Amino acid sequence: MILSAVWDKLFDSMVRKIVTYPAEILKRPTDRIDVVDREVKQLVRDMFETMYDAEGVGLAANQIGVPLSVMVIDTSPKEDAPDLKLVLINPEIVSSEGKIKYKEGCLSFPGLSVEVERARKVKVKALNEHGEEMEIELEGFPAIVFQHELDHLKGITFVDRLKGWRRRIALDKYRKLLKEAQKG
Ligand code: NI
Repeated sequence: MILSAVWDKLFDSMVRKIVTYPAEILKRPTDRIDVVDREVKQLVRDMFETMYDAEGVGLAANQIGVPLSVMVIDTSPKEDAPDLKLVLINPEIVSSEGKIKYKEGCLSFPGLSVEVERARKVKVKALNEHGEEMEIELEGFPAIVFQHELDHLKGITFVDRLKGWRRRIALDKYRKLLKEAQKG
């Protein structure tokens, strides 16, 4: 259809607003995607655009206010990480091994970084941007990014990975950062 082609040209992709904690949508599990249609493909394009604009390496759809199970990852901006660009729809962990600790950041918690322990290696099952089933093994930094985004899709944020006083300290620090940001 000509109209839709024009529409696609006009709105090729756009930077969307990133939702920040404690927004409710970040605390709820996302829905699985039945069909990878034009709208989902558009969503993926916007997610990349938004992630690059914010200089992130991973983004989950609910972070731009869309409660669907899709994430984008691009670890190439990080110097010592592999050039890996991924779209993962309805992702699941098939198996995991090892442990790794890393100081993570999150676009939904501007300014905050916390050390989180995750699996060092994960085998992942998902659909790609064409709706085809895929399986991939991730290790090290890409595995960390994937697990961080998978948590988002389940309504879990990185502070939820902390326990007791560590969690309280991180949330206090974040509240202070929010206050400072509001003051400008
Ligand atoms: Ni995040």
